[in-house]
Amino acid sequence: MKNIVIFASGSGSNAEKIILHFKDSSQGNVVAVFSNNLHAKVLDIANNNNVPSVVFNKTELSDGTVFNEINKIKPDLIVLAGFLLKFPDDIILHYPNKIINIHPALLPKYGGKGMYGMNVHRAILENNEKETGISIHYVNEHYDEGGIIFQQLVNIEDCTTPEEIAEKVHQLEHQHFSAVIEKLINS
Ligand code: GAR
Repeated sequence: MKNIVIFASGSGSNAEKIILHFKDSSQGNVVAVFSNNLHAKVLDIANNNNVPSVVFNKTELSDGTVFNEINKIKPDLIVLAGFLLKFPDDIILHYPNKIINIHPALLPKYGGKGMYGMNVHRAILENNEKETGISIHYVNEHYDEGGIIFQQLVNIEDCTTPEEIAEKVHQLEHQHFSAVIEKLINS
């Protein structure tokens, strides 16, 4: 049984899908949800599913407090599912190829600092892109630059608002993220 830890900052719809996917699994188990946002909906989701949660602030992320908490768990996989802060180098270096992130675009396009959530979808609409998609990738010391594990495209020619693009991207994320995680913990 592999231990999975999720980091999330907001509504946590991806986290919820992953928690439910592994609820009765014999392969993996979501053992904790970490969030930098005390008011994040993802904390209610964790609570409703009896998954312990850890809330921390920016200082605790960079001063080793979060690193210590993670080391108590020694997870097999750390999943960033809508986590909006830069992940700290100490954890990255200690868990090589064990940290993955989902990005709501086709990296390397629309990645990097400031490119998260609705900012990404707004930029894509402004540039009249015909398609966008999702990228699941390893996390390294540089924003959105780790090796790509999985990508999937979606046509957005019928979308006229960033919200419509976000909706299509979320659907793709919900469809694929748990399956990719399951493959990874079994490989
Ligand atoms: C997701 O679309 C995810 O790809 C994105 O935030 C959203 C979180 O949704 N992540 C990033 O932009 C990271 N750079 P959720 O809280 O409903 O899972």
